[in-house]
Amino acid sequence: MDYKIAIAKLLSEHIEALSYEEILNLVEHPKNKDMGDFAFPCFKLAQAYRKAPVKIAEDLKLALASNEIFENVTAVSGFLNFTLNQEHFIKTILTEVLTQGADYGKSTIGEQKKVIVEYSSVNIAKPFHMGHIRSTMIGESLNRIYKFLGYDTVAINHLGDYGTQFGKLIVAYKLWGNKEVIEADPINELLKIYVRFHNEAEEKPELDDEARAWFTKLENSDEEAVELWTMFKEMSLKVFDRVYGLLGVTFDSYAGESFYSDKMPGILTELRTKHIVQKSEGAEIVDLEPYGMPPALITKKDGSSLYMTRDLAAAKFRKDYYNFDKNIYVVGSAQKLHFQQWIKIIELMGYAWHKDCIHVEFGMVSLEEGSLSTRKGQVVFLEDVLQKAIEQTQSIINEKNPNLVGKEEVARQVGVGAVVFQELYTSRTKDYSFSLEKTLSFDGETGPYVQYTHARACSVLRKAGSTEAIEISKIDFSKLDDEASKEVVRLLSKYNESIVIAHRNYEPHTIARFVVELAQNFNRFYHDNPILVDDENVKTARLAIVKAVKIVIESALHLVCLEAPEQM
Ligand code: ARG
Repeated sequence: MDYKIAIAKLLSEHIEALSYEEILNLVEHPKNKDMGDFAFPCFKLAQAYRKAPVKIAEDLKLALASNEIFENVTAVSGFLNFTLNQEHFIKTILTEVLTQGADYGKSTIGEQKKVIVEYSSVNIAKPFHMGHIRSTMIGESLNRIYKFLGYDTVAINHLGDYGTQFGKLIVAYKLWGNKEVIEADPINELLKIYVRFHNEAEEKPELDDEARAWFTKLENSDEEAVELWTMFKEMSLKVFDRVYGLLGVTFDSYAGESFYSDKMPGILTELRTKHIVQKSEGAEIVDLEPYGMPPALITKKDGSSLYMTRDLAAAKFRKDYYNFDKNIYVVGSAQKLHFQQWIKIIELMGYAWHKDCIHVEFGMVSLEEGSLSTRKGQVVFLEDVLQKAIEQTQSIINEKNPNLVGKEEVARQVGVGAVVFQELYTSRTKDYSFSLEKTLSFDGETGPYVQYTHARACSVLRKAGSTEAIEISKIDFSKLDDEASKEVVRLLSKYNESIVIAHRNYEPHTIARFVVELAQNFNRFYHDNPILVDDENVKTARLAIVKAVKIVIESALHLVCLEAPEQM
């Protein structure tokens, strides 16, 4: 039951000056809880009725006949305040959670809508470092959130697998590469020869010419060039898939930059015939000065294509192929201008769907001193951070709960979950500094704290022998008349709303914060209310809350990409 809708329906029977939708949009949660559970401000009606809002609120209150869903309705300073009938409210919400189970909180707002979420988009032959956690996890979470709301989603990893750097890598490999050595540790070894290329090219600029020639060969599908490039790509993907496996991240498509190489001529022709590009010193650019932006480089002097051009081709392809309603890019704020530029160019090309291309940007992640041993300037591999988190969790488990069954698996779920949760708990636009120690804490606002609360709920249900469904008709909801119970149920009722807000703002942290608040309030409830008591009615009613909380924590954790072990 959606109380906002119920209130709006009731009000619209008595208000003609506003449409049902307008009324619905005005129904709010009062800031002060003493003012009731919902409020309706009457100020917008003053002009239509030529009456003071205070008087309108009073008249409306009289018109609303008593209704079983409200304890009372009051008129205060131009607001109508609704206090829900507690027993009715608790019964409605718990019944919904317990009968809908894992579907509770879903909605149909995304039905028939296609959304592309592009995320992670790491670069071949380069480290998958700690900085990549942001795009990877914000994107994976948004993908899960959109899916949960009924959208048809496509998760794309726009791999950085093209560009002149691959010409350099081919030259470096032919000069100093050793297949066995590279296979044993692909990313580090490929990086080593790439760095060596740069150092030597400073003395021998002819290396750069060779590299350009090899990239041109690659663009022209030269057999040897393609073979080497494919090898680099496959070796890198093997390493990346290990990291995605640890994180539980999956994609529907790995169409990276190279995928668009044969779509480049088409986009260039279109830009030329629409007179959007102009020649500039042998290259082609789009003048964006009228829009307050520097020019966008579309082709280089030697005719080779660029990152920008590939993004134009990719967007056009995605529109043609998927016909998206929304095309989301989870990419750091450092590329803000790049996205503004190419989305502007799509607009100049006459495509109204430029509005549906959304750059979901995020701030930087840094590492708190001492939290990971790293020499200055060296990148920190994400896989190493995850392994360290798993190891430390393992030793905590060995100390606190050495007989736990499946403890290796739990260590992975909790260790990785801790890192992921800290990432998503911060608002994405903020920079943050990562600390492994804080992340792994079982107290405070952390992943392990929420997972532990879930395991605690599971343990209570096991002890009560009620891991199976609880029969709703046997629950006496009047037994749940304390404040802690009411607060837990109030939060459960707001689950869908927090998901909808998260998807609207592209902010998984709304759900991360929601689930921490739910866990905190559940622990308060658990502390105040003994559950396994002799009074069967009280026990069953309290177990209903435990079960409902277990369902919603597990569901919310999934949306922020954490697993929910039943024992820890
Ligand atoms: N591979 C790029 C990088 O690491 C990110 C790609 C972002 N996505 C895009 N469509 N441009 O910087």
